[in-house]
Amino acid sequence: MAAPHCDREGFATKLGVLTATLGSAVGLGNIWKFPYMTGEHGGAAFLLIYILATLLVGLPVMISEILLGRYARSNAISTWRKVARSKAWMLVGASGVVAAFAIMAFYTDVAGWVFNYVIKASMGDLNTTDPAVAEGVFGAMVSNPWSSLAFQWGVLALVSTIIIGGVTKGIEKTTKTLMPILFVMLVVVCIRSLTLPKAGEGLAFLFSPDFSKITGEAVLMALGLAFFKLSIGMGTMMTYGSYFRQDANVPLVATRVMLADLTVSLLAGIAIFPAVFNYGFEAAAGPGLLFMTIPAVFSSMPMGQLFMVVFFVLTAIATIGAMLSLFEVPVAFFTETLKDCSRRKATILVAIGLGLCGVPATLSFGPMADVKIFGLNFFDFYDQLSSNILMPAGGLMICLFAGWLFGQEKVKECLSNNNSLHNGAVISLFLLIVRYVSPLLVLLVMLNGLGLLDLFG
Ligand code: PFF
Repeated sequence: MAAPHCDREGFATKLGVLTATLGSAVGLGNIWKFPYMTGEHGGAAFLLIYILATLLVGLPVMISEILLGRYARSNAISTWRKVARSKAWMLVGASGVVAAFAIMAFYTDVAGWVFNYVIKASMGDLNTTDPAVAEGVFGAMVSNPWSSLAFQWGVLALVSTIIIGGVTKGIEKTTKTLMPILFVMLVVVCIRSLTLPKAGEGLAFLFSPDFSKITGEAVLMALGLAFFKLSIGMGTMMTYGSYFRQDANVPLVATRVMLADLTVSLLAGIAIFPAVFNYGFEAAAGPGLLFMTIPAVFSSMPMGQLFMVVFFVLTAIATIGAMLSLFEVPVAFFTETLKDCSRRKATILVAIGLGLCGVPATLSFGPMADVKIFGLNFFDFYDQLSSNILMPAGGLMICLFAGWLFGQEKVKECLSNNNSLHNGAVISLFLLIVRYVSPLLVLLVMLNGLGLLDLFG
C-alpha cells in the first residue's frame, strides 16, 4: 500500500486514533438528536432501523472513508484527485463542504442552547419537573432572537479561537479526559431515570418495537441519523483517516467507534424516555426534548442542581469536539484551494459565513418561524439537506468508489495493512456489503424518501 505522502503529521498513538475519531462522532447527535428523533418516530421500531442502517451502511461507509483518506493522506477534496481518474469525483468532496456548512448552521445554534442551559442550571432556573414550566423555559429561550444569536455567535467565536490559536490538540486532550466523565454522568442519569415509578413505560417505548410506525420518512430519517452520528458521507472521516497510522487496524477502529457511539446514544435514550413517561412530557416534543426532560430528572435527585450543571458543561465540551472536526472540512478546503489563504484567514472566513448562514436557522424558532423552503423552516431545511440528501448521496458515491473502482486487491492490501493483519474474512464481508448491500439500501431509501418510489405502500 504505497501512500503518496507519508510525511504528514498524524495521530501518534493507537489510543489517539480511537479517541480522536470518537471525539468527532460523539456530540449533540447522541444526546440531543438521537432521543428526539426516536421520540418523534415512534421509539423502538425507529431504533431498530437506525441500528440496521448503522451496521449495513454507516460502518461500511466509515471504513471506506478512512481507508481512502489513509491511502491518499490528504483532505476531503484532494483525496479524490489522488485516488480517482476523473476530476468529477471531487464534487463528492465539494458536497461535503456544503454539508459541513449546513450542519454547522444549526449545530452552533443547538450548542448555544447547551451553553445557555449551563448558565440557567447554575442559577437554579431549571429546577422543575413540571412539563409546562420546562416547556416555557425552553420556548422562551429559543424564541428570543437576540440571546439565541449571541450564544450562537459566541460558540462560533470560541471554536474559531481554538482553531486559530492552534490549541486544537489541547482541546482534543481535554475532550479525551472529559468524555469518560460524561459517560459516567450519563450512567448516573440513567440510574436515576430507571428508578422513577413509571420507568417501565419509557423502556417499553424505547425497546419494544411497533412495526406499524415504520414509514418511508422514518427510514430516511434513521439512515440520515446514521450518517450524521458517525460524521460520514462528507469527508470528515476521510480527513481523519489521513492522520491514521499505517499500523492502525481500520475495520477494528471503525467498529469500536461505532459501538461506543451507539452505547452513548442508547444511554441518552435510557436517561430520557423513563422521565418522559414519568413526568408526562411529550415523546414527540421535537428538538426541545433533551432540554426539558434532563432538568426534570436532575431536579428530583439529591444534589441535582450541581449534577445538572456538570452534565450541561460536559455536553458543551462534547459539542466542541464535534464542531472542531466539522470546521476542519471547509477550513482545509479553503486553505488549499483559495490563493494565499492561511489557516487563520480560512477560519475567519468560514466563521463569518457560518455566522450569516446560521442566522435564519436560529431565527426559525422566533421571527422567521413562518419562512419556509420546500415546506421546512431554515433549521429543519439545513438539517434535512445535510442528513437526508448530501451525506447519504456522498456515502453512496464513497461506497461505489471503494467497492467497484478503487480495486479489490488494493482494498485488501490497505485493510490488512499489507497482509500483516489476518483479517481476510472481515475484508471479504466488508467488500460484499460495500459493493452490493450499502449502495442499494441508500439508493432505495433515498428514492423512497424523495417520493420517487413507494416501498411502504
Ligand atoms: N457526529 C456528530 C454528532 O453526532 O454530534 C455530528 C457531526 C460531526 C456530523 C462532524 C458530521 C461531522 F462531520
